[in-house]
Amino acid sequence: PVDTTIPDPSLVVLIGAAGSGKSTWARTWAATQVLELDRFRALVSDDAGCQEATEDAVFALQAVLEARLARRKMTVVDATNCEQAVRASLISTARHHGVPTVALVVPTPASVCVERQKGRPANRRVPERAVLAQHAAMVAAWPGLPAEGFDHVVIAENLHRLQALLRPLSD
Ligand code: CTP
Ligand code: MG
Repeated sequence: PVDTTIPDPSLVVLIGAAGSGKSTWARTWAATQVLELDRFRALVSDDAGCQEATEDAVFALQAVLEARLARRKMTVVDATNCEQAVRASLISTARHHGVPTVALVVPTPASVCVERQKGRPANRRVPERAVLAQHAAMVAAWPGLPAEGFDHVVIAENLHRLQALLRPLSD
C-alpha cells in the first residue's frame, strides 16, 4: 500500500541527494514552514554553500525547529538528511513535542542529481562523489525508515503537490 499521508501538524523530513529536487518539493509549503539548511548557512555566514558554517547553521535550525514544534506548527526540514544520526535527532525532537513524523523520500536518479549540479553557482555545486554517496545512503536507508521511527514514509513522486505549484506557471 502506498502511503501519501502528511498530517498537519507533522514534521516532514525530506530525504534526497543534492539536486534531487527537495527544495522544489519544499516550495509546496509556505515559506515560513520550511527550514532549509542552506538558508541557515547563509543566515550565519552570508554564504549558502559555506560548509564550515554547518555546525552553527544546524544549531540555529534546531532552535527554530524546537520553537515551531512546541507550537505544533507544520514544519519541513529541507536538507539531504541522508545520515541516520541526523534523522534520529529530528525524530527525537518531534517526539519530545508529540508531533508525528513523515519521511518524504525524493528518489530522483543519481545521474539526474549529478547533471543538475552543472548549472549551479560554484559555491552551491556539490562534487559528483558526494552526490553519489548521498544517493546511495538514501537508497540504503529507505527500507529501514519505518523502523527508525517515522510514522509515515511517503515517496515524493506519489504526491500531486507539484502540480499545484506548477499550474500558475503554465497558465
Ligand atoms: N527540478 C526539476 N524538476 C523537478 C524538481 C527539480 O527540473 N521535479 C530542478 C530544479 O528546478 C532545480 C534542480 O532541479 O534547478 C534541483 O532542484 P532543487 O529542488 O534545488 O534540489 P535540492 O534537492 O533542493 O538540491 P540541494 O540539496 O542541493 O539543495
Ligand atoms: Mg535544496
